[in-house]
Amino acid sequence: MALYIFSSKSAAVKALAQYIQKLAWENIQSKGAFSIVLSGGSTPKELYQTLSAAPFRENIPWPKIYFFIGDERYVSDNDAESNYGMIEATLLHPLKIQPHQIHKYDTTLPPQQVAAAYQENIEKYFGNGKIVFDLVLLGLGDNAHTASLFPQSEILNDKKPGVKAVYIPETSSTRISMNAPMINQSQHIAFLVTGSPKATAVHQVIKGERKPLTYPAQLIGNNADWYLDETAARLL
Ligand code: 6PG
Repeated sequence: MALYIFSSKSAAVKALAQYIQKLAWENIQSKGAFSIVLSGGSTPKELYQTLSAAPFRENIPWPKIYFFIGDERYVSDNDAESNYGMIEATLLHPLKIQPHQIHKYDTTLPPQQVAAAYQENIEKYFGNGKIVFDLVLLGLGDNAHTASLFPQSEILNDKKPGVKAVYIPETSSTRISMNAPMINQSQHIAFLVTGSPKATAVHQVIKGERKPLTYPAQLIGNNADWYLDETAARLL
């Protein structure tokens, strides 16, 4: 686990964008493709806007990159809550990413079928071999959830890699999420966490008592790197 702490969110975003550029070139030069799992919520918007602007717009071989989403809200693509909608607006559309490069959830299906169909989509991409994404981006909620791995939820007990539909009592909403075993199989994992409201959760996950049912982001392996601004890291 590496902690990278920056004086501002924009500095953290720039450093993570440079890391993504480096990994993309390494993977595309070695195997002709780069698979990235994008995180949702509001924090990564600035990262995606940075990636779809100069210099990253010109410096990354976008046509060889394949985009997945770590979790999705059970809403339509054009709903303000849709992670795909946010990612499409800030990254995929500006970069003219082609449909065959985009692996999105089909939230027109019933929740369990959304999860099963997405897992099948992922398995097909990996030729029904081991699912190993090149990079997974994650955020952190102020209750120490990541993706849609919320405290005390059933998905936290998963032992096999999978995609599951989960009901979130805190928000009375349904989400679909990759589970921790699937995320942990990835080559690289990077958290992007900024802002003072996240400081307690950052401390709980990294330095707190090991209680993954309470602090679900603790389920994410030690190979994860953290890109933080000083306010989110202030309790470390
Ligand atoms: C989501 C994300 C979720 C997010 C955290 C932090 O779908 O919302 O997967 O895990 O990363 O809730 O969200 P913010 O970046 O909006 O604080």
